[in-house]
Amino acid sequence: MVKLRILDLFCGVGGVVRGFHKYLQEQGVEYEYYAVDTDRRILIAHELLNPNSITVCRDAYGFTDEELKGYDFIWASPPCETHSHLNFYNWNDPKKFKEPDMRLYELILRLQKAGNSVRSRERRTVL
Ligand SMILES: C[S@@+](CC[C@H](N)C(=O)[O-])C[C@H]1O[C@@H](n2cnc3c(N)ncnc32)[C@H](O)[C@@H]1O
Repeated sequence: MVKLRILDLFCGVGGVVRGFHKYLQEQGVEYEYYAVDTDRRILIAHELLNPNSITVCRDAYGFTDEELKGYDFIWASPPCETHSHLNFYNWNDPKKFKEPDMRLYELILRLQKAGNSVRSRERRTVL
């Protein structure tokens, strides 16, 4: 049986991942779950809470298009505070306003592109 390859970018301690593990295990799906974060301390906590994750300490923005195509499912939950309305209300207050990381928008487009190529693959029918 083909193992589903899942990539969780900006995984944090793993609030989202717990639901994925639970569902996939209940369904008897074979999978590898790659959880990516840049903060090593967070990844240690992630491993303790989610022993079935394969943790990777790496910049999520550094994945190439080719690498992204190698996964069947990609989840990304980046830090969102700087993209929120609250931050933009503070536009004129240099003490409060934080520059949003605009690389996020490029990543969204690249994930969409990778998703289109995954859709054309046969192995997508595992579930
Ligand atoms: C919103 S939290 C993730 C929450 C997580 N998905 C959950 O369900 O609990 C964002 C995470 O992104 C991580 N992060 C920030 N910049 C990153 C980057 N460039 N590459 C990978 N992880 C990053 C932070 O360390 C933080 O743990």
